[in-house]
Parts: sequence; structure tokens; C-alpha cells
Amino acid sequence: MKGDVFVIEGGRSLFGRAELHGAKNAVLPMLAASVLTAAPVTVGDCPLISDVEDMIAVLRALGVDVAKKGREVTVSGAPSVTEIPAHLACAMRSSVFMLGALLASCGEVCLYSPGGCRIGARPLDIHLDGLAALGAKIEFGEDFVRCTAGKLRGTDIFLRYPSVGATENLLMAAVKAEGTTRLIGAAREPEILSLVRLLVKMGADISGEGTPVLTVRGVRELDGASVLPVKDRIVAGTVMAATAVCGGRVELSGADSSVMGAVISPFLGAHTFLVEHGGAITFESDGLLSPTDVTTGPYPLFPTDMQAPFMAAQCYASGMSTMRETVFEDRFAHVAELGKMGAKIALVGGTAYIDGSAGMHGAELSACDLRGGAGLVVAALGAKGRSSISGTVYIDRGYEDIEGLFSSLGADITRRRGG
Ligand code: UD1
Repeated sequence: MKGDVFVIEGGRSLFGRAELHGAKNAVLPMLAASVLTAAPVTVGDCPLISDVEDMIAVLRALGVDVAKKGREVTVSGAPSVTEIPAHLACAMRSSVFMLGALLASCGEVCLYSPGGCRIGARPLDIHLDGLAALGAKIEFGEDFVRCTAGKLRGTDIFLRYPSVGATENLLMAAVKAEGTTRLIGAAREPEILSLVRLLVKMGADISGEGTPVLTVRGVRELDGASVLPVKDRIVAGTVMAATAVCGGRVELSGADSSVMGAVISPFLGAHTFLVEHGGAITFESDGLLSPTDVTTGPYPLFPTDMQAPFMAAQCYASGMSTMRETVFEDRFAHVAELGKMGAKIALVGGTAYIDGSAGMHGAELSACDLRGGAGLVVAALGAKGRSSISGTVYIDRGYEDIEGLFSSLGADITRRRGG
């Protein structure tokens, strides 16, 4: 079966308003956390994307009840299964969140090789070492890992890297552990704050949120709760990147500039204008970009998820830009595709050198991962002529109706349905 293809006629300016919804990276761990109680947990403002659907499928496979009303997802009941089926685990990387959540609620969990984007090795050592420190027994099979624990006991856990997923997993494992857990060197992404807010509302005792040391005092039981996730700063940044290359003026409704400093700052220059007003950001660009030197890193540094969308914008800058990737060792699949559009990019180790003087034209492109695919959409929106982008299934994992979003702003983008 052939997949869908985006057909983009580049070169249209973007004007209008884009409404942001809950961040994928906040919603997924929040949904996983719902199994920590049998009482109803409601996450509102969920994006309508396939990763959320896949997480719902994982939860249903565990035997809990999931009701979805528009953007609101309510999970209730206790899990009756502790094994995450291989086909679901392979479809989505975020099934790893079930490690901490199921271990804490059921005392055991078995996870088959998790899937997700092909962006480097993505090991689980920090997650598993942390769970082991809490008292879990870890066993490896050929394609699965099983964790069991009679009782989890709080302790100091030193994270050798501020892994987002490991921080979230260990938080979920620790909230019902006996005694106090300190996550030292924890990640600080705003999406983690959304998870903390949900857990606290459920009755967890967590302090230090937003700092590298999270302290969790274990409680016996958690209750139901209803919360909203932080808005998606990566979707906001992707729209900014497209506006930067196309020129125009776009209002990002719901954008929270207090957590977007590193996303926003590389966009600021002589040819752009940004103003924050009443829960929205308006970004304006005349379509001319100055060269920039950007390095990705854990929050509050520039997010690796913005690397490809921003690199697409750097292809349009008036001179040499650099993009250094420090979070994932192999997140450059989009570079070869951008080259098909005329981009001159040299990869030296983890740094891309991007000569923006090349001039970008439409081409037949293939998305290989979620954010790389979004980068191709940005590049194609700014390019002269027509592009087609296959591999839309990756983009659909994290962007809700991306063609509708950009069409509403004046872009010429359509989805050609596959057979
Ligand atoms: C999350 C985000 C993803 C984002 C990434 C970094 C979700 C659902 N996904 O992914 O969009 O790109 O954060 O901001 O929130 N690592 C280890 N051992 C581990 C865990 C991680 O070596 O046990 C390494 C990874 O290989 C990677 C780096 O740490 O090089 C960052 O990974 P991590 O922060 O864990 O990313 P994810 O949680 O998978």
C-alpha cells in the first residue's frame, strides 16, 4: 500500500492565526501516568495525532477504560495486563513510559523493543538503572525487558544525562514508592512540568519542579484528576520557521513565551518582529534571514526537536549558518533530502554547515522521521516550485493536520491520499 504524499507549491507568504494545542511530549507521559490510579484521569486539549491514538491503543491493551471526547481523553480502571504487546511497543517509543507507571501500579511490566523515530541508538540504560535503584529486578530477553518489584523504595538517583523520558519514568515509579526519592540531574523540559502538575493533582508529593533536583515523597494511593498540558512549543517553532522562510505575519494563539526562549531567540534579527500579547505570540518576517549558529541541548537550551525545522530555515539565510546537534548522535536524515532541493550542507561530526546562498527549489522528498519531515515541509513551503513529500505517516505522529494548519495561513499544500 502506498502512503499519503504532501504536494506543496512553494513561495506563498503566510498570514493569519494558528491555534496551538497540548504538546505531544506532555500528553503522552500524562496518559501513561493515568494507570497509577483506578480513578478517572482526564487530560484535556490533546492534539489529534497518531501518537496519541497509539498511546490510547496501548492503554486499552492493558485493560483500562479510555473515553475520548474531542480533545479530552479520560482513562479509568486498573490495568489487568502488564505486558505491552510487541506490535504496539514497536509502533511508538513512548510505550517506554509504561515501565515506571506499570511497575508502580502493578509491581511488574514487560516491554518489547520500543519503536519510534530512527534517530540514534536511544538506549534505556538511565531508565533501567533508575528503576533498579528503586528496587526493581530487571531481566532482558532477546527483544524484551521485564521489570518486577515487590516493593519500590525511595533513594537518591543520579541521572548521568538529563534524559526527558527517564526523568518522567522515574517520577512515575517513585510517586508510590516507600520513602523519599531524589532525582538528581533531572531533565527540566516544560512538558515534564505538565506531568508533575498532573501527579501532584492526583495526590503525589513532588517538589523541585523546574530544577535539576526533583524530590518525591512516596504516598500510598493516588486519586483521579483533570488537567491541561502545556501548549506545543515545537509546533509553534515549526510555524515560526515556515513564516521565516515564506515571509508573513502569524499569530500563535496559546504560545507561552516563558518556556520558549531558546526556540524564539534564533529567529530574532533584523528581518523579523515578535510581540507577545494576551496569551499569544505574533511573529512577523519579511522572508529574509540572517545566518545563525545554533546548538541543541537539554532545556533550557535549543530543543533538538526544532533542529530540522530550523535547519530548513537556515537554508534560506543570507550566508553560512551552523547547526550543532548534541542530544541525538544521528538526527540528520533530512540533510540529504534538503540537498535534493539545492541546499548546500556539509556534515562534519555532529555539526551541519549550511550555506544559505544556494537557492532552494522544489523536489521529490521523503520524510524519514517526525521532526525531519516537518523540516522538509518548512523547506518546501519556502522553495521555488513544486515539492512532494512522502513518509507523511511520520509527520502525522506529531503534527495535527499540518496541511490544514498551513493552508489556513495561505500556503498551497495538499495531501494526496495513497492507495
Ligand atoms: C524526548 C522527546 C523527544 C525529544 C527528546 C529530547 C518525548 C515523547 N520525546 O525523547 O521528542 O527529542 O526527549 O528532548 O517526550 N539516553 C541514554 N540513555 C537513556 C535515555 C536516553 O543514553 O536511558 C540518551 C538518548 O539516546 C539521547 C539523549 O539521552 O541521546 C536524550 O534522550 P531523552 O532525553 O531520553 O529523549 P526521549 O525521552 O527519548
